[in-house]
Amino acid sequence: VALQPYNSFGIAARAQQLVRVRRSADVQVLLGASEWADTPRFVLGGGSNLVITGDIKALVLKVEIAGRRLVEETPKGWLVEAGAGENWHDFVAWTLAQGWPGLENLALIPGTVGASPVQNIGAYGVELQDRFHSLDAVELDTGHAFTLDAAQCGFGYRDSVFKHERAGDKGYGLAGRALITHVRFWLPKPWKPVLGYLDLERKMAETGNTTPDATTLFDWIVAIRRAKLPDPAVIGNAGSFFKNPTVTPEQCADIIARDPKVVHYPMADGSIKLAAGWLIDACGWKGKTVGHAGVYEKQALVLVNRGDEEHPCTGGEVMTLARAIQTSVYERFGIRLEPEPVVI
Ligand code: EPU
Repeated sequence: VALQPYNSFGIAARAQQLVRVRRSADVQVLLGASEWADTPRFVLGGGSNLVITGDIKALVLKVEIAGRRLVEETPKGWLVEAGAGENWHDFVAWTLAQGWPGLENLALIPGTVGASPVQNIGAYGVELQDRFHSLDAVELDTGHAFTLDAAQCGFGYRDSVFKHERAGDKGYGLAGRALITHVRFWLPKPWKPVLGYLDLERKMAETGNTTPDATTLFDWIVAIRRAKLPDPAVIGNAGSFFKNPTVTPEQCADIIARDPKVVHYPMADGSIKLAAGWLIDACGWKGKTVGHAGVYEKQALVLVNRGDEEHPCTGGEVMTLARAIQTSVYERFGIRLEPEPVVI
């Protein structure tokens, strides 16, 4: 099976076989299929946070579980559920159209609802964990269904138990071992806009509107993202390629002494978060191409596919470029950038 249509980077690779999972019970059905008994499984959502570096010797489970519904409304908020295969952005737009605000800052993030808790998606001051209620999943080895609440998901910045293979201080390690089937969100009343982000402050100044409603905020976020992030349908990419690193105030002071313009944000725990895009940009990478992989010209944190049909970009080329960037950022700033997408 060609995987190019199933990953937003548009990397050409193959998998042994691909099965579409439309109901939780499909996972159990598969367990009974003796021809696949010994084949490892790989769970695929929208494929928008993925770098495939070679052919996949696994049975790919493409999650297509549909459905979205209001579970309950109370005086304190709305509990909304979606099937893991629903498109994330369409789900956000649908909740707003129903009059249930709260997810607007997460508009236009590529991928599926089921993938959203895996890396605890976040943008413009809101992270998934701020609106998450619980999820249902199925263990791939046993077909056993289970439910996790927010604490059990072990959310961190672009992190959850679904990104760790082994149990750590956060409890479970579920990477590669579970398939998320449904996710529930808690959207509290009264709704309050989250406006702290610089790009949003600019929008307020531009429009003179300092009290946007949720739909206006949604439109602003869509416009901001369209202006600086490449549309994966046009230019293959996996969003931010590295996590924003955190440093100690001393390390940050060191960097400021040499590079006064370094973009940095103080965190609640006393550490300082640096903008990886700025660091990469400062090393001169913006707009550069190596092989068939490149650095997006409007946002240095995004690596893009510069291949074409005859010469498709490979995952190896993407990782070669990523390593070259890591080396130059390390040499100049002494900071090790950590890739953000799942690399297989
Ligand atoms: N910057 C540069 N040069 C660049 C890119 C950025 O100087 O080439 C500077 C910007 O001027 C800005 C700062 O770096 O001052 C931060 O840039 P931006 O606001 O674009 O956000 P980011 O930190 O690069 C993060 C998330 C994005 C999310 C935005 C908005 C990570 C790894 N990325 O990017 O998430 O949309 O904030 O909240 O945390 C993703 O995870 O795939 C993603 C797109």
